[in-house]
Amino acid sequence: MFVCVCHALRESELKEIVSRNGCRNLDDLAGHTPAGSQCGCCLMELEAALLPEDATDVELEEASDKETSAQLPSDKVLEEG
Ligand code: FES
Repeated sequence: MFVCVCHALRESELKEIVSRNGCRNLDDLAGHTPAGSQCGCCLMELEAALLPEDATDVELEEASDKETSAQLPSDKVLEEG
C-alpha cells in the first residue's frame, strides 16, 4: 500500500528508511526521502511510520493529533493549491 502517493512510496519502504537511518521525526525522515514534500496528505501516515511496530492505539492517536503541527523543513514544503 502506498503511503505517499505523490512519490510512490510504500509503507514497507518508509519503515525500512526509518529503521536504516534511525529517523525519529519528520525532519529526520525528510533528510532521507521526499515523502510528504508535495501535497502533504501523507504526513499523518508518515508520523505513524515513525512509531515502533508495537505502538498502541493511543500512540497512533497521538501521532495523528500531531498532524496539524507537523512541519517539514520550509524548503521541502510546496504551496498547497
Ligand atoms: S501523498 Fe505524500 S506528498 Fe502527497
